[in-house]
Amino acid sequence: MTYLKSAAEFYSQVAQTPEVGLCCVQSTALQLPGLVVPAAMQEMNYGCGTTVHPTELSAQPTVLYVGVGGGLEALQFAYFSRRAGAVIAVDPVGAMREAAARNLALGAQENPWFDPSFVTLKEGDAFALPVADGSVDLVAQNCLFNIFEPADLSRALQETFRVLKPGGRLVMSDPIATRPIPEHLQQDERLRAMCLSGALTYEQYIQRIIKAGLAKLKLELDALTVCSINTTISSRSICC
Ligand SMILES: C[S@@+](CC[C@H](N)C(=O)[O-])C[C@H]1O[C@@H](n2cnc3c(N)ncnc32)[C@H](O)[C@@H]1O
Repeated sequence: MTYLKSAAEFYSQVAQTPEVGLCCVQSTALQLPGLVVPAAMQEMNYGCGTTVHPTELSAQPTVLYVGVGGGLEALQFAYFSRRAGAVIAVDPVGAMREAAARNLALGAQENPWFDPSFVTLKEGDAFALPVADGSVDLVAQNCLFNIFEPADLSRALQETFRVLKPGGRLVMSDPIATRPIPEHLQQDERLRAMCLSGALTYEQYIQRIIKAGLAKLKLELDALTVCSINTTISSRSICC
């Protein structure tokens, strides 16, 4: 089995039996006026920090969210876009998409402003995103790309670049290693799937991002979590 299949199996299990605090340190979800995060969705917060930055979400952007998890950030992005189909959330794991759909239905019960049509759940993966070239304003991923081996990380970044509109942005939040992680830990598929051993150093990660054509960087340190660096990347506008 490849490490990607192991990761998919792992996420299928934790979609069916949630594990609180699975990835990174558990932090309180971003609080927004009038947004209630259902308890079942919060339990499945498998991310590090946040990719949702309110000041960057004006003009009801079309958002492609890669690796939906329990749907927490999809709901948060929908809070800003508030229109049918504005958030497209992709995941290759059927059980995870089902869990996200259940949690988003709870979200609709608990938030009068939210309609499940605001989020479209789609089967797909980071290497073959199910949307057209140049079709989205923003791509977000939280605690997924660090799972990928370096060559696959580059593939995922290039695929991201393909789907962004000119001037679109990639927002990501991933663990970063302060020094290279020992090879035997990197090869441990379960630790990698748990976001514990696949992290690159900051320099390695940035080089991959630049090589993928996403060259204009605005870097933000996440003050809430000790293990993640949020990286906001402006793309295309300067690359084409
Ligand atoms: C660590 S979880 C993060 C979930 C969510 N982003 C969050 O912050 O709670 C990783 C997610 O990526 C999904 N995933 C695994 N392999 C993937 C792939 N190749 N492409 C896209 N998503 C993938 C998993 O099913 C899971 O939902």
